[in-house]
Amino acid sequence: MNTSLPSSSPTLGPLNRREFLRATTQSAAVLGAVAAAPWVGGAAVRGANERLGVGFIGVGGRGMSHVGTVQKLIADGELLRIVAVSDTYGHRREEAGRITGAKVYAQYRDLLADPAVDVVCIATPDRLHVPQAIDAVRAGKDVYCEKPMGHWTQTALSRQFYLETQKLQRVVQIGNQANSSPEWRMVGDYIRKGAIGRPQLVLAGFYRNGDWGERMPIPDRTALPGADLDWEGFLGDAPKVPFTVDRFFSWRKYLDYAGGPCTDLFPHVYTPFVSMLGLKYPSRAVASGGIFKYDTYDREVPDTFNQCLDYPQKLSVVLVCTLANEYQTDPCIRGDEGAIVLQTDWSSGVDRFTLIPNKGERREVAGGRSDTTRSHWKNFIECVRTRQKPVSDVEFGFQVQVALNMAMLSYLEQKVARFDTERLEIVL
Ligand SMILES: NC(=O)c1ccc[n+]([C@@H]2O[C@H](COP(=O)([O-])OP(=O)(O)OC[C@H]3O[C@@H](n4cnc5c(N)ncnc54)[C@H](O)[C@@H]3O)[C@@H](O)[C@H]2O)c1
Repeated sequence: MNTSLPSSSPTLGPLNRREFLRATTQSAAVLGAVAAAPWVGGAAVRGANERLGVGFIGVGGRGMSHVGTVQKLIADGELLRIVAVSDTYGHRREEAGRITGAKVYAQYRDLLADPAVDVVCIATPDRLHVPQAIDAVRAGKDVYCEKPMGHWTQTALSRQFYLETQKLQRVVQIGNQANSSPEWRMVGDYIRKGAIGRPQLVLAGFYRNGDWGERMPIPDRTALPGADLDWEGFLGDAPKVPFTVDRFFSWRKYLDYAGGPCTDLFPHVYTPFVSMLGLKYPSRAVASGGIFKYDTYDREVPDTFNQCLDYPQKLSVVLVCTLANEYQTDPCIRGDEGAIVLQTDWSSGVDRFTLIPNKGERREVAGGRSDTTRSHWKNFIECVRTRQKPVSDVEFGFQVQVALNMAMLSYLEQKVARFDTERLEIVL
């Protein structure tokens, strides 16, 4: 396991706040000005009536589900075409090529060099997201990048991605699809209108029976590195350890590639609150937990994780997770004039919520569920065409990633994590 804390990115030194704000303000202004420009960042922006070429990097479980979403959008008239797929595992990339009829690439950089690709969807293991996304924006592509935006060791690299995306004027949507839920937005509207006064405490959790081992079955126990399995490509910037089929296929068990509940499950639980409450960077984070149930020989990520984030506006977000018991309790937002209790499915919406004012009658409000991944794609594609900011843009993604990384580092180092808003760095 690599717990070393990168103090600065490979190619960018730490920025002070003034430099950072100058860079982002300039690029925001440019982003506004390019709406009518045919060329942005050196790459062609296709007109409203032209088909956009979509490339997929990583066509495992989630990647193929995105392929299905894009195929349905195309069937419904969206001007897209699937032009390229790439995966380090030969069987999966060939299968994806067969299903889509797209060009098949063994190396994602070759896919990025393909001029038919306008936008890429990155659904590889967590540690590859940011390095691949940086390569993509540098290649002039717009990016739908799965959550978590980066690995917990990659705060500096994630900051670099944020900054370069803005400088290069690319459109990036992070795969926090709950941000495209109309139901979550409705809850946010109630809060903004003062339904519970000033929000001060969020308490939410993720509860499930089951480890990640059985959720990531190994299709071929005899698989070995070679032309059909690119072990180096899978490792990326992770420590160069010898190949095992478990690491390659069941990567969620290992800290080198994943973080457990904090970085895999909490993005779903946490991001709706970040959006609804307008949260930015936490001022401090503490986290606890451990491997309390699935103590198998090679499991490294915790199965129990609890994190508390404090924000400068005097608000705490407390998130808890166990993989030992799936009994659900309802998340709650407490303010100084009332509370909201939510019945929710984290990725598809809020079924209903109850407003409980300190004074006066309780009120139940009907919500609903929707295909938020589809809506998230539609928002992304619209923004690619109009050059607007998507609902989970790169700045939002970075703010979320910082909070998750602070909690991971607090848990691993057993320290309070703080955030330096001048240098945009985590301090332990
Ligand atoms: N937003 C959501 O609801 C949601 C749901 C599931 C997964 N995810 C995210 O999607 C990502 C993928 O998860 P998954 O369950 O599909 O995992 P997976 O293991 O099923 O798929 C990952 C794929 O990436 C491939 N890959 C590895 N290195 C690569 C490289 N260098 N280039 C190209 N391909 C490479 C693997 O061979 C594999 O096929 C994760 O980061 C996960 O957090 C998001």
